Amino acid sequence: MVGTDPASRIYVERKARVAERLGFAHRQVDLPPDISQERLLALVAELNRVQKVDGILVQLPLPGDLDGDAVLEAIDPAKDVDCFHPLNTGLLTLGRPRFVPCTAAAIMAILEHWGVGLSGRSATVVGRSPIVGRPVSLLLDRAGATVTVCHSRTPDLEPHVRAADILVLALGRPLAIPGRWVKPGAAVLDVGINRMPDGSLCGDLDYGHAMDRAAYITPVPGGVGPMTIAMLMRNTFLAASARQNVTPG
Ligand code: GUN
Repeated sequence: MVGTDPASRIYVERKARVAERLGFAHRQVDLPPDISQERLLALVAELNRVQKVDGILVQLPLPGDLDGDAVLEAIDPAKDVDCFHPLNTGLLTLGRPRFVPCTAAAIMAILEHWGVGLSGRSATVVGRSPIVGRPVSLLLDRAGATVTVCHSRTPDLEPHVRAADILVLALGRPLAIPGRWVKPGAAVLDVGINRMPDGSLCGDLDYGHAMDRAAYITPVPGGVGPMTIAMLMRNTFLAASARQNVTPG
């Protein structure tokens, strides 16, 4: 963790708490916001070398002029439990994933838990970030859905949202999607975690009307977020197993 971003602090604390609960040994390294790129890269290189470290996670965003891409690329791909290294992104794109990015994995796990079939269905993903929108659109595509990816340049979101049997919202704009756009019977996964002026949290979806229309819907907070942490722990377990040449059972 570099710097003091309050939201990042909360996320890192949550991850640490779950790791502890599962009995993983973990260490949080708090670095000053003015750390140099060289020192940060040197620390990652050291953690790459330490045998007993199975997973490395650099919380994003990095403050100031730090080059996040270079830092993510410096992580040993075998320890890249966030699945942000270009090698792991490439394997995912080819359909041969070693890890799956945690939020995308969380969405797929929730859909599986609900028993929502994907093959032949229409999926709309709003947002194309490398952390959420892009990987989840790849996974939905591989699962046989017809995927539409919308983003800030999409002139008219409404028809794409209305057509979606599976709707993934990863825009980061509070209450941006009206509930009345949700297709009756749709499965809705809201990844947005937005802080309102009164301090409360809300998603990208305006839940009014959506609750009556959707067959399945995740709440904010408490929906995709906790599952994302569970998937991080799964990736860490997979990394540890692979590094010890053990097949996880
Ligand atoms: N910042 C926002 N989401 C994430 C995440 O999944 N991993 C890391 N490392 N940083 C983030």
